[in-house]
Amino acid sequence: MTAPSSTASPLAPSALAGQVALVTGAAQGIGLAIARTLAGCGAAVVLADVDAEKAQAAAKTVTGRALGLAMNVAQGAEVTAGIDRVMTEFGRLDILVNNAGITRDGLLIRMKEEDWDRVIDVNLKGTFSCTKGALGIMIKQRRGRIISIASIVAVMGNSGQANYAASKAAIIGFTKSVAREYANRGVTANAVAPGFIATAMTERLPDDVQARLREQIPLGRLGVPEDVAQAVAFLASDAAAYITGQVLHVNGGMWMG
Ligand code: NAI
Repeated sequence: MTAPSSTASPLAPSALAGQVALVTGAAQGIGLAIARTLAGCGAAVVLADVDAEKAQAAAKTVTGRALGLAMNVAQGAEVTAGIDRVMTEFGRLDILVNNAGITRDGLLIRMKEEDWDRVIDVNLKGTFSCTKGALGIMIKQRRGRIISIASIVAVMGNSGQANYAASKAAIIGFTKSVAREYANRGVTANAVAPGFIATAMTERLPDDVQARLREQIPLGRLGVPEDVAQAVAFLASDAAAYITGQVLHVNGGMWMG
C-alpha cells in the first residue's frame, strides 16, 4: 500500500504566485484540500460554497490570502454575483475549479424526478454557469485554467448512481468542448476524475462496501482529498500549459483508460 499524498506540492511554493483561484464546494472535503494546495503554491483563493458560514470558517484555515464566499452554483444569479465579488476583491480570475457536487443515490426505477434534477442542477448546470462566468474574464486576460471534478463513475457507471454518473460523464464532454472553443484564447479546460476518496460523501458507505471497494483498488486504499488536490494544482500550473481537453484519473488504478 502506498502512502497518501501530502499537502506538500511538487510545484514551487511560488508556482501560482499572483494568481487568483475560485474553488466551488470548498467548505470541506476535496474542495478544501484543493484550496489549501493552490494557496500553498502561492495563489489567492476564493472558497465558494452553498454553506456560507462553513466557507468563511474554512477560508480562515487557509494560509495566504483567502476569501470565503456564499454561492449556490445551481443558481445562475448567485454565480454571477459571486464572480463579480471575486473581481471586486481581487481584480482577476486565473483558475476556476468546478468542484461542488452532490449525490442523490437510488435505483433508477425508484429515482424521483427531483433527485435527477437536483444532481444535474448542481453538478452539471453549476459547472456550466461557473465556467461561462469565468470565461468572460479569462478571455479578456487571454489566460485561464478551468478544471472540473468529474468521477470514476463517469467512465465505469455505478449501480444506484444513474443521475450522478450522467452528470459527471456530461462534465467530460463539456470540458472537451470548452477546451476546443477557447484554446486560441489561452484558456485550457481539463477534468480530474477521482476514484473513491475518503470524505463525507463516501463516509456514508457501509464498512463492507468500503472493504469491497478497497479490494478493487490496486494501490490498496481509498484516496485522500490531497491526492486529488495535487492533480488539480499540476493542471493549474504552467507545467500543464500544453494539456487541454484531458481527463486525469486519480483512482489508485481502480479504472485504467
Ligand atoms: P463533500 O460532500 O464532502 O463536499 C461537497 C461540498 O460542496 C460541500 O462543502 C457542500 O456544501 C458543497 N456544495 C453542495 N452543493 C453545493 C452547491 N449547490 N453550491 C455550492 N456548493 C455546494 O464532497 P467531496 O467528496 O469533497 O466531493 C467533491 C467533488 O468531488 C464533488 O464534485 C464530487 O462529486 C467529486 N467526487 C468525489 C469522490 C469521493 O469519493 N469523495 C469521488 C469522485 C468525485
